[in-house]
Amino acid sequence: MRAAPTTMWRSPAAPACLLVAAVLLSAVAAATAGEEYVKYKDPKKPIGERVDDLLSRMTLAEKIGQMSQIERANATSAVIEKYFVGSVLSGGGSVPSEKATAKEWQQMVAKMQKAALKTRLGIPIIYGIDAVHGHNNVHNATIFPHNVGLGATRDPKLVKRIGQSTAHEARATGIPYTFAPCVAVCRDPRWGRCYESYSEDTKLVQLMTSAMVPGLQGDAPARYPKGTPFVAGGMNVAGCAKHFVGDGGTRDGINENNTVLSFHDLMRIHMPPYDDAVIKGVASVMISYSSWNGVKMHENRFLITDILKNKLKFRGFVITDWQAVDRITTPPHKHYYHSIQETIHAGIDMVMIPYDYPEFVADLTTQVSNGSIKLDRINDAVSRILRVKFAMGLFENPLPDPRLAGELGDKEHRQIAREAVRRSLVLLKNGKHGEKPVLPLSKKADKILVAGSHAHNLGFQCGGWTVSWQGQGGNNVTAGTTILEAIKAAVDESTVIDYTEHPDKSSIAESAKEYDYAVVVVGEEPYAETEGDNLNLTIPSPGPKVIKDVCGLVKCVVVLVSGRPLVVEPYIGAMDAFVAAWLPGTEGHGVADVLFGDHGFTGKLPRTWFKSVDQLPMNFGDKHYNPLFPFGFGLTTKPSHSQS
Ligand code: BGC
Ligand code: BGC
Repeated sequence: MRAAPTTMWRSPAAPACLLVAAVLLSAVAAATAGEEYVKYKDPKKPIGERVDDLLSRMTLAEKIGQMSQIERANATSAVIEKYFVGSVLSGGGSVPSEKATAKEWQQMVAKMQKAALKTRLGIPIIYGIDAVHGHNNVHNATIFPHNVGLGATRDPKLVKRIGQSTAHEARATGIPYTFAPCVAVCRDPRWGRCYESYSEDTKLVQLMTSAMVPGLQGDAPARYPKGTPFVAGGMNVAGCAKHFVGDGGTRDGINENNTVLSFHDLMRIHMPPYDDAVIKGVASVMISYSSWNGVKMHENRFLITDILKNKLKFRGFVITDWQAVDRITTPPHKHYYHSIQETIHAGIDMVMIPYDYPEFVADLTTQVSNGSIKLDRINDAVSRILRVKFAMGLFENPLPDPRLAGELGDKEHRQIAREAVRRSLVLLKNGKHGEKPVLPLSKKADKILVAGSHAHNLGFQCGGWTVSWQGQGGNNVTAGTTILEAIKAAVDESTVIDYTEHPDKSSIAESAKEYDYAVVVVGEEPYAETEGDNLNLTIPSPGPKVIKDVCGLVKCVVVLVSGRPLVVEPYIGAMDAFVAAWLPGTEGHGVADVLFGDHGFTGKLPRTWFKSVDQLPMNFGDKHYNPLFPFGFGLTTKPSHSQS
């Protein structure tokens, strides 16, 4: 039913007679509508009362359904109805069809939602996806710089706008929940997920977390009770701080490995961003695959329940990582039944299964029925999930809004992304010792050379988690502007641009004298998660050769596209200028904006730039700190408004 339009319901202090009158009124309204009054469906009721009312009506099967998150590919209407599925996700690159439009995404989500609404209690599903640098799984979405680049901007207001834009693009596809932000404090760049971290510095990660969470979810009102999930309806989405906790502190930067730290250091280095996320009303927290001092985070009751839920007062829901329950015990000793018990007991509320839901449901049902898992724990889990669903208005607005489809890849979002790109670039060298600065470059050159594997490759400049999980090379990946295209658009019409991906030294030598300058763009190829773990951190070949060949012959600016600092010390002497561009995303114009002086360079290193890998881990504040460029370093240039 629709709520009776009365405001007295809201006031907890309303005299009893008024409340009775209100109940009667709504009963009348309900009777007129031919429906029984159902408290949990009444948006005028306080969320706590709605949760309790709904929980009291649920069977064990319905509760376990709420705790289950299954992958899109197996979320048919029949499965959703049979298992009372509470949540569906898109894994990396899991899309309804290749290059699906916003409308097609909406149709897919709507179909699943309608199945959920058909169940006895009509509890809507919450659909989640990794929108981690824009709505990156979706073709034609705006791709923002990965988090490491956002750390370099030092600009929380900009980051908040990126969160808002990302939320709008997710809503364009009917999706109300993202597994972001990653609030990892990456302490070792050998970690394959280092680019998902804003910084090695806890304070900088906190600053960005405090901006990104309200960007995605909306601003909680002043004096909002700490830890209560807050998600403004409409165009905002529920967020997820991940991966709790210490994911960025593993030994040698090995993904999903062991973080060996004292409790004090864990709390000091890795925990603070979670407190900020909780203060901002983050809807969910995802647990890390990694271990702390040898104990898997997914079974750490002390950190999940005692610290996160009780000490930090987090009242949203805790979700596992992908198939994480399966990974608690290692094959061939896999013991799923036991792992479920450990995780639920530790305080996990929602399980990202994502495929073996029949086994999960059967095992959990058995364990609750035989008393191995207490019903109280299940009720806590389900209450938290329902609390988020009520808070975000899912019961009132469960279906995608077709009017929002146009938000996908919206022009204004692309402008924000372009701004983010130019603010994220860090200028590390500008002119050889004793020589004049090279940047900004002249737009009026006669002839220039653009070279390297990353100059004209949209997929490379977007990195991992772009359209597919691992990311991929190529210019047909999605819509955007490559760095070469941006350079072409920036320079004078009369400027001749020679472009070569893999330049041949002798042919450059021939025309070397004709080039006013060269822009060399090299870097890492896309990767995600463990695939990105790397113990040597060299610039992949032929990058170093291209740098040496070109810079040996022509005045050169080297732009490095990478998720982290790489070994550059051997080549830096040959470069005339050096720019760290991180993983800028689809808006290559932002690179040209600063190279050619339409805007100045302002970015500051969000990470220490080491000299050699044997120094690692080495972070700002360490006793033995001997970097090539320290944390916070970044040269600036002034915009050149009047170029002659
Ligand atoms: C990653 C998470 C991600 C999840 C869902 C996992 O492998 O660790 O960051 O949210 O997959 O795609
Ligand atoms: C999924 C990702 C997930 C990863 C974990 C992939 O198959 O698409 O979402 O993060 O597996 O290993």
